[in-house]
Amino acid sequence: WSCVAIERERTLAMIKPDGLSGNYTERIKEVILESGFDIVKETAVQLDAERASLFYAEHSGRSFFDSLVKYMTSGPVLVMILERPDAILHWRVLIGPTDARKAKTSHPNSHKSYASFHFSIRAMCGVDSEKNCVHGSDSPQSAAREISFFFGDVRSDTVEHDEL
Ligand code: TYD
Ligand code: MG
Repeated sequence: WSCVAIERERTLAMIKPDGLSGNYTERIKEVILESGFDIVKETAVQLDAERASLFYAEHSGRSFFDSLVKYMTSGPVLVMILERPDAILHWRVLIGPTDARKAKTSHPNSHKSYASFHFSIRAMCGVDSEKNCVHGSDSPQSAAREISFFFGDVRSDTVEHDEL
């Protein structure tokens, strides 16, 4: 016989200021756990303009950048390391498209394999393409960068399960 270990993966999730102030945290965490993720670590952070700009450095120079930084610094955010098989793609599908207005009516074409899956977190609590409630890393490279951005080197840390 053989024993195959399914490889687990980590991604960075964030509940943005409007998600926290709108009291969506508990519902989002329920969805996370119901979807088979472990929350490996979490911390609440107040970003300043410098940190928010650094986090979204790939978008500096875009027309929405200054407004985005202002929004991301308007209150605390909750960052989490999520873990499960295929965590990066799975979390992106679960949060839905960048524009929360689209999230409420359709599903992103980029995830055709999940076309029958309609619920998304951004549809639940996002407002538009800026105030979209949550963040998710878009690739293994982004996930590694974003996890170390908030948590440092945690590659060998294991899940801290709350024992019932
Ligand atoms: P992006 O990486 O394109 O989206 P996602 O969060 O889905 O990975 O953009 C990063 C953030 O920038 C996005 O969550 C909100 C903000 N943003 C705007 O405010 N306006 C826009 O038109 C876009 C594309 C993004
Ligand atoms: Mg992105």
